[in-house]
Amino acid sequence: MKIKTLFISIVVMMTSCGMNAQDIQLPEPNRKGGMPLMEAIGNRQSAREFSNFELSQQQLSDMLWTACGYNRPEKRTVATALNKQEMSAYVVTAKAVYKYEPKENKLIHVNAGDHREVFAMQDFAKKAPLNVALVADLAKQTNEVFAGMTVGAMSNNIYLWCASEGLNTVVRASFDHEGAKDALKLGETEKVLLVQTVGK
Ligand SMILES: Cc1cc2nc3c(=O)[nH]c(=O)nc-3n(C[C@H](O)[C@H](O)[C@H](O)COP(=O)(O)O)c2cc1C
Repeated sequence: MKIKTLFISIVVMMTSCGMNAQDIQLPEPNRKGGMPLMEAIGNRQSAREFSNFELSQQQLSDMLWTACGYNRPEKRTVATALNKQEMSAYVVTAKAVYKYEPKENKLIHVNAGDHREVFAMQDFAKKAPLNVALVADLAKQTNEVFAGMTVGAMSNNIYLWCASEGLNTVVRASFDHEGAKDALKLGETEKVLLVQTVGK
């Protein structure tokens, strides 16, 4: 097959399965192994030092699954009041912003470019390679306290996963809330409640 035909076939294939060329298909999350739970809880802590280390796609898949993946048909890794499932997670890197699509285990490209500045007030977070924005749709869950609890559970799962992987992390409420909403291209009823920096 000629290169041009091959390229067209790949684009047609990706379009027909609803995938944009900039989207990323993650590997299946690894649901086995990791540090024993009591050790991970013992190691949970915030860290504010980050190098240029970038998570592998497997690590991204595993981390996002712990935050808000499906662990049973139609049910999630974190509890939500009345099973409203109002939460979503976005990945913010130096190159682009993606929305985690848990059913298909994909990162959907939502915005190009480096938007880290609006997700951080502290310098370490502006330079860290990865921030995860934890979002709630307040149309699905109108009680913002309950939405905050859901997002808090997402954050804690990320903390425990980082402890298990020997990675650094800190959750933050200090960021430009309106700027972050714009960078993620959120709808009117969606809100970024927390941003979590993850790395090494
Ligand atoms: C809701 C919430 C908001 C937070 N916001 C920030 C923040 O903006 N910047 C920061 O450096 N740490 C932030 N933290 C992390 C806390 O400072 C940290 O959890 C606390 O100092 C205790 O340290 P530890 O997590 O190591 O136990 C936040 C934590 C929570 C739960």
